[in-house]
Amino acid sequence: MSLFDHLQPESLDPIMAGFQEFGADPRPDKVNLGVGMYYDEDGRIPILDVVHKAEARVAPHMKSWGYLQPDGLPALRDAAKRLVFGDALTDRMGASIVTVQSLGGTGALKLGADVIRRLAPDSTVMLSRPTWGNHPSIFAGAGLHVAEYPYFDDATGGVDWHAMRAAVAAMLPGTVLLLHACCHNPTGADLSAENWQDLAGLIRERQLIPFLDMAYAGFAEGLEADSAPARLLATLGVPLFVATSFSKSFALYGERVGVLSVIAADAGQAKLVGEKVKIAIRTNYSTPPSHGALLVSTILTDPALRAEWEAELDAMRQRIKRMREGLVARLAGNNARDFGRFLHQRGLFSYSGLDAAKMDRLKTEFGIYGVSDGRLCMAALTSRTLDRVADGIRAVA
Ligand code: LMR
Repeated sequence: MSLFDHLQPESLDPIMAGFQEFGADPRPDKVNLGVGMYYDEDGRIPILDVVHKAEARVAPHMKSWGYLQPDGLPALRDAAKRLVFGDALTDRMGASIVTVQSLGGTGALKLGADVIRRLAPDSTVMLSRPTWGNHPSIFAGAGLHVAEYPYFDDATGGVDWHAMRAAVAAMLPGTVLLLHACCHNPTGADLSAENWQDLAGLIRERQLIPFLDMAYAGFAEGLEADSAPARLLATLGVPLFVATSFSKSFALYGERVGVLSVIAADAGQAKLVGEKVKIAIRTNYSTPPSHGALLVSTILTDPALRAEWEAELDAMRQRIKRMREGLVARLAGNNARDFGRFLHQRGLFSYSGLDAAKMDRLKTEFGIYGVSDGRLCMAALTSRTLDRVADGIRAVA
């Protein structure tokens, strides 16, 4: 009798499973609108110019690749805290904020989940319906209860604020409320500024614990506007977790660089929280990798590089917008479905409303890979693929 005798086949979540399948597809003209990565007009995942410059600046001074401390590179932690919360808030309450380096956004979510599990093992994490396919696995995998609140309204392609509000108003104190800061994954439908204000009041009233997933800051309206939810929630006087990813905004996917920030009541509490987070790091992967962290901190702390990065990020956002417009123009007049919603949905993704069977046809007949829930990565479209993708969608819709 072996440990493996009763193994059953199991697959990864649909995003990663599709990514694997795409890699194995021999068709030369296949199009990957599945896993969330930004592609340039030539269909390549770019290395940002500013990243090349940071690399050239850092490389000659590298003397060793010794371990970082478990909580990561101090320069990255400081710069990321200021990036997420802004200078004014950081100056005022920075000592109550613990910011640690993480393995991308996923790593930050897992660290936060582990800390919550240690402090309140019976916690329930409420996730939007739908949400990123990995969210339930991360939180349930950490031993927490997972449930859903209504979010997306397929009739409008936007948020069903009425239903979401009612669900949040009925949540028990101490419930962990997972929110997407912007560019909701998978739908692209975001809360309005008024919704956020209203939600903040409810969170305080109900004494909920917001956990903000901030993987796409810069891709909705710009860094400042996209950081507004984090800054609003930071002032509520409730514990706050913010998972920030630099994978997309620096196009450093494979470097696994992000941060987790936790807001405590005061500096003394923050120190204790920081110790819990460091234990979570040490027992998961010990210490984080240095290379990507050095690149991001170099860019964030040098005013000229920082300005260049923001310009490159703006350009990525604008290109995605043009692709959205191009696709909608090509799909106009489609009687089966109105795709105009792609224009007001934001960020890398949109929920097409195509069901799993239609998404499967798109893949098998046209070589166009999305996610089986109907999610399409708009950031992977190029002027050269727009026609083909529009033809495919029109055919299956
Ligand atoms: C996505 O949603 O496609 C990205 O966040 C990548 C991932 O890890 O799933």
